[in-house]
Parts: sequence; C-alpha cells; structure tokens
Amino acid sequence: MSGGASPGIVAARCLGVGMSHRPILVLGATGSTGRRVSALLGARGYPVRAASRRGRVRFDWTDPATWEGAVDGAEAVYLMAPDGVPVDPGFVELAVRRGVRRVVLLSSQAIEEMGDTRLLDAERAVRGCGADWTVLRCDWFDQNFDEGFLVESVRAGRIVLPLGGVRQAFVDADDIAAVAVAALTEEGHAGRVYEVTGPEALSFGEAAEVIGRVAGYPVRYDSDPEAFVRDQVAGGLPREAAEAAVGAFAALAARGDGVPSDDVLRVTGRAPTPFSDYAVRAAPAWM
Ligand SMILES: NC(=O)c1ccc[n+]([C@@H]2O[C@H](COP(=O)([O-])OP(=O)(O)OC[C@H]3O[C@@H](n4cnc5c(N)ncnc54)[C@H](OP(=O)(O)O)[C@@H]3O)[C@@H](O)[C@H]2O)c1
Repeated sequence: MSGGASPGIVAARCLGVGMSHRPILVLGATGSTGRRVSALLGARGYPVRAASRRGRVRFDWTDPATWEGAVDGAEAVYLMAPDGVPVDPGFVELAVRRGVRRVVLLSSQAIEEMGDTRLLDAERAVRGCGADWTVLRCDWFDQNFDEGFLVESVRAGRIVLPLGGVRQAFVDADDIAAVAVAALTEEGHAGRVYEVTGPEALSFGEAAEVIGRVAGYPVRYDSDPEAFVRDQVAGGLPREAAEAAVGAFAALAARGDGVPSDDVLRVTGRAPTPFSDYAVRAAPAWM
C-alpha cells in the first residue's frame, strides 16, 4: 500500500463510522467488480444506485446526457470504465460539482510499465478532483478465467498469452469489492493507493493447471507471441492492435513476478482468497 496508515482504517472499522443516507453510485454495475460492489453495499444496508448502459440506472460513458441523472444526489462513486473506454474527466468534475464527496477508482497494476495512458489519465483525474479519493490498483482478476475474456479459452483447453513464466498475483473480484466497499463507506482511506492482489503469485501455466484439475480436463498454457497474434487476428482484432498488445505484455513480463500485497487483509480484516479456492467455486463455468 502506498500512503501507509492503517490505524485510521482499524479505528473506522471498530467505531463503525458510517456515511450519510445519500446513495452510492456504482458504475459498471453489471460487470465483474461493479456487480459485487453493488451486492455488498446492498447487503450492508447502503442505498445503491447500480448503473451501466443496461443497469437499473442508465449510465453511458459515451452519452453525457446520462451522467447527471445517475450522479445527482450521490454521496460517493465507485468509478470504473470498461476496457478501452476512458474515464472522462468531465464526468468526475460533474460528480464533485453535484455533491459527490468520495470517489473510489478501479485501476490496475503496472500501468506505467504497460503505458496504459487510459488508466494513468483516470488516476490523474481522480487525484485532482477535490473530493476524497482512493485508487485500487488491482492485479489480474481471477474472474478473467470464468466470466471474462479467457472463459472460452479455458473451455477449449488452451490459454494463449505472451507472458512466458512470469507470475501474477491473481485477485478474486470478491476481494476487490470488499476493499472498494470499505473505501466507499469507512473513514481512513482518502488519498490511498491500494495494491489489490491475491495471496500468492502464479504463472499462467500454474493457474491453467489448477483450473484443469477442478475442470476435469487438461488446460494448456501457450505463451508463444506468434500464436497469440494469430488467435487475436482470427478473432477479428486488427494485426496492429494484436502486435501492440504483445509489446504491452512484454513490458509487463519485464517487470518480473507480481508481488502479493497485504492490502486486502489490512483494509478488510480478512485474508485474500487463494486462487485454488476461487477455482473450486468457479468450476461450473468450465464444465
Ligand atoms: N480484468 C483484469 O484482470 C483487470 C485487472 C486490473 C484492472 N482491470 C480494469 O477493470 C476494468 C473492468 O472492470 P470489470 O471487470 O469490473 O468490468 P467488466 O466485467 O469488463 O464489465 C464492464 C462493465 O462496464 C459497463 N459498460 C460497458 N460499456 C459501457 C459504457 N460505454 N458506459 C458505461 N458502462 C459501460 C458494462 O455494463 P453495460 O454493458 O450494462 O453497460 C459492465 O457493467 C477495466 O478498466 C480494466 O482495465 C481489469
């Protein structure tokens, strides 16, 4: 965690410091993290405004006419934009102007190394917004394998990613949601950047093995960049974009093995979920 200081976190939890009864706006509320953030907030009795293009509340990053209705009267925002979509600073400004006092941004690890200007810009917008902010720099989500872009690869028994044997500290989206909900509802998280990771770092080959064991069929990992480009182009991605992705993955691999952090434990009071536990839970998606 950058920024240190967990005494405030502990005090907030012990004292049960709460917020106003104004709703919390959750963006991406039909997605992997937003769905869980909404559910957890609701289970804890917070009023939730679950928003996305198809959500209960309509919010579309590409349609500013949907922004005001979503954010008006909200106390806090779980801020995320899907892959490829920038966080428009105009929305962040609008949110604060309309009374939002707390913003929790879903971001990613290694964004400097990968040259992820989309998320670097998003972090900049949030840090300068004038409201309390918290940034969640998450490692690879476990849920990529059963809800996200790798689910069909797992079912086909072959995951192709040009990352060699480098290890990632895969994190469960339930743990991300727990950290987000703490940051949205407790004191002591303003100005913090949390490294949200799982408890161990695994290579994609090791993750594929764990998945294969619970799925009941072999799941191979292929790290050949040529194979990756071939697959992506066959799937409709322009060759240039596929090759750019190989470059970004190479930069990520050059960073070396991901390092598990203890931020999930420090913020939520419970240890992050081991990948093998996630895999057992997710297994029906691979049957
Ligand atoms: N996957 C990883 O390993 C990983 C790791 C670190 C960080 N991240 C970051 O996490 C983010 C993805 O989060 P996630 O996995 O929770 O989301 P997700 O499961 O990919 O779902 C995307 C969400 O965004 C909504 N959405 C799509 N287009 C939209 C638009 N134009 N306007 C408003 N909402 C829109 C979707 O709902 P509707 O279709 O209803 O609009 C959905 O709720 C990305 O920024 C990614 O860079 C991912």
